[in-house]
Amino acid sequence: MGLRLNCAYLDKFVSSADINSMKDRVAKAHELLHTDAADTLGAAWRGWVRLPENYDKDEFRRIKEAAEKIQKNSEVLVVIGIGGSYLGARAAIEFVKSKNYNLIKKDTPDIYFAGNSISSSELAELLTICKDRDFSINVISKSGTTTEPAIAFRLFKALIEKKYGKEAKERIFVTTDKEKGTLKYLADREGYPTFVVPDDIGGRYSVLTAVGLLPLAVAGLDLDALMQGAADAMTEYANPNLSENDCYRYAAIRNILYDKGKSVEMFVSYEPDFALMNEWLKQLFGESEGKDGKGIFPASAIYSTDLHSLGQYVQDGRKLLFETVVVFDEPKCDIEIPFDEENLDSLNFLSGKTLSYVNRRAFEATVLAHTDGAVPNIVIECGKMDEYNLGCLIYFFEKACAMSGYMLGVNPFDQPGVEDYKRNMFALLEKPGYEELSKALLDRIKSECAL
Ligand code: PA5
Repeated sequence: MGLRLNCAYLDKFVSSADINSMKDRVAKAHELLHTDAADTLGAAWRGWVRLPENYDKDEFRRIKEAAEKIQKNSEVLVVIGIGGSYLGARAAIEFVKSKNYNLIKKDTPDIYFAGNSISSSELAELLTICKDRDFSINVISKSGTTTEPAIAFRLFKALIEKKYGKEAKERIFVTTDKEKGTLKYLADREGYPTFVVPDDIGGRYSVLTAVGLLPLAVAGLDLDALMQGAADAMTEYANPNLSENDCYRYAAIRNILYDKGKSVEMFVSYEPDFALMNEWLKQLFGESEGKDGKGIFPASAIYSTDLHSLGQYVQDGRKLLFETVVVFDEPKCDIEIPFDEENLDSLNFLSGKTLSYVNRRAFEATVLAHTDGAVPNIVIECGKMDEYNLGCLIYFFEKACAMSGYMLGVNPFDQPGVEDYKRNMFALLEKPGYEELSKALLDRIKSECAL
């Protein structure tokens, strides 16, 4: 296992008595997560727990074949999806390759993500980028009915059909429910190849299904190593014993800090290629825990960048934060700081040192300063930023999140709050079936929002 939970910076904030007091809650959450009983909270959504060993091997092979085809005939893959049908794939590509993946020299297609906003400027730009290049589309939606990707798909479908005529259907790959939803209906009608989001895996837990795997394979990631990392994490974190399970200790510590008034968790990394992983973590924890008036608010930062913006608040502001810092044993590559004869910048005290050494010192300096400022720091140490360790990290956080949610007493797998804005938006867009709400909302806008 490439992961280690380092609790050395928590002494002032979490005692061993605190951890021991969580044993019962952890045991109950573990039981709930591992039971097959259908009448338990979230029972229909626990397919991801055993996914690293139970995944559909035939579909896995088909994903690799589709990826090879896309790599051969396309300069660009457009991945259309939002939320759990978007963040995991983008985060994984940036984690293993680079946040500049599209700009670096490579023998795999560029990958653009569409349908994750309703910005016309963004979509128009993407359509222009793809117009004169060979491209394929992977449209991803578990429900098959989400508005943002549906709009983007309509526009890209029109473009690809105009460009390739009948051949277009060879370039459209659909990832959705195995039998229901508008997208499934459309894919079957048009004869597009389809991949399945399993019934018992929700969007934010789906990165290790076809949802993430097809874009990752196109980007040239090693899917076998990724799944191996997740499988090893699955074995490692199946241990019900709190003192031997880092994943459960992390979940317990989060809840202890929450009970002590720390209501914001800042996910931190010193690697900019982790920025999208931070976004994935924010969705995972925010949608899983934030309900029934409860939950830790997930925020994120990339240091040292954000030490020059958010750092002041973290150090000195209201004491509602704790940080979860993911650090890596080695960088993807390193740079030595050269000696300069004139030393006009007075930097020769660093000559011969590597940037990763300086980055490590920045981490050590910050963790000491922030803990002095009453901000508890949980540190997760990881090996290299490769596929294997990514698989470990994904499983670690998914399981810690589900355990935390159960310990908090919420269903970590639903997202009822997301529906409220959708209902209002449909009504205001005058979607058939929303007539009554539409009238009521328009009246409210007139009276409450009038200038
Ligand atoms: O985690 C979730 O379930 C959500 O964030 C969904 O992934 C998101 O709303 C997109 O849904 P769908 O894949 O059905 O289009």
